[in-house]
Amino acid sequence: MLTAFGELAIFTGNAHPELAKHICEYLKVPLGKSDVFKFSNDNTFVRIMDNVRQRDVFIIQPTVTPVNDNIMEMLIFIDAAKRASAGRITAVLPYYSYARTDKKDQPRVPITGRLVADLIETAGANRVLTVDLHAGQVQGFFSVPVDELTSLPKLVKYFQDKKLKEPVVVATDIGISKRARDFAARIDAPLAIIEKRRVGNREMAESLNIIGDVAGMPAILFDDEINTGGSMIAAASILKKEGATDIYACATHAILPGEASHKLSAVPEIKEIVVTDTIPVPQSKITPKIKVLTVADMLGEAIYRIHNGLSVGALFSQQP
Ligand code: R5P
Repeated sequence: MLTAFGELAIFTGNAHPELAKHICEYLKVPLGKSDVFKFSNDNTFVRIMDNVRQRDVFIIQPTVTPVNDNIMEMLIFIDAAKRASAGRITAVLPYYSYARTDKKDQPRVPITGRLVADLIETAGANRVLTVDLHAGQVQGFFSVPVDELTSLPKLVKYFQDKKLKEPVVVATDIGISKRARDFAARIDAPLAIIEKRRVGNREMAESLNIIGDVAGMPAILFDDEINTGGSMIAAASILKKEGATDIYACATHAILPGEASHKLSAVPEIKEIVVTDTIPVPQSKITPKIKVLTVADMLGEAIYRIHNGLSVGALFSQQP
C-alpha cells in the first residue's frame, strides 16, 4: 500500500520497552535501534541508530514513573528524530501523566497537562497517539492531531466472558460516570455512581455516598486509573455496606506506586483487579488478584492504520 510517508519506524525510550516489543510483534516490524541513557551529570542522551530520513516514526513512551525523566526522554527522542529528518513523528503515549492537572481550579496553580502538551509539540511531534486520557478534553491541549484509543472493548470482553450474574457497574466518581455508563451499556448492566470528594491537594479521597442500587449484585468498580488504590478501597467499603456481593475493580491505567497493589489486593471484599499494560506492571506488583490485559494489539493496529491513512475510529465502530 502506498503511504504519504516513508517506511514505518518504531522506537521506544526506557519507559515501557516490553509494550513496544509486543507492538512490533503485532506489526511484524523490528523495533528501531537507539541508545537512550543518562550521563553521570544526570543529562539524558538519545541516539537513533537507524536511518529515519523521511520515515514515518512512532516513539512509544508512556509518561510513567519516573515521570519527569520519561517525559524528558520523549522530548529528546522527538528532537533527535526531527533533526534526523524524519518524515513524520508520532508521540505514542499509552499513558499521559499530568492530565489530571488540567484546570486552574484554585489560585496560583499550573495547568501542567497543557504545558507538557506544548513541550511535546515544540520538540517536533506531528501527531499523538494515546489511550484513555483522564478527560477527553485533554485532547484539546494539543494542536496537532490526537488519536485517543480506549481499552473499553477489552474490559467489556473480559467481563462478558466472566458471565457475572446481573452485575452493576459502579463509577468511582462523578467524573468517570460517562465512560462507566458506556461500559455498563455494553455489558448490559445498570450503573451506580460513588460520590467522591478530594480533600486538599495531597491525594486524600473521601467517598461519601452511592447513587444507585447495588444490593445483592456483583459490582464492577470502574475508573480510568488506579493510583494509590485509595479510591477503590473506599468505594469497596461503601459497596460492602450497601450489600454488593462480589466486588471487582477495573481501570485502564495501573500506576500502583510502592505497596499500592499489595494494599489493594489485601482488601478482602475485592475479588479481582483488572487493568491493562499501558503502564508496566512489574512482577513485584502482581498478586493473584491482579489481571493485566494487553493493549499492544490495539496500539499496533492503530499505528498500522495511521501509517496507511486508514480510519482509526473504525477500530471502535463499524464506520469507515
Ligand atoms: C482521578 O480522578 C482518577 O480518575 C482516579 O480516580 C484516581 O487517579 C485514583 O487515585 P487513587 O487510586 O490514588 O485513589
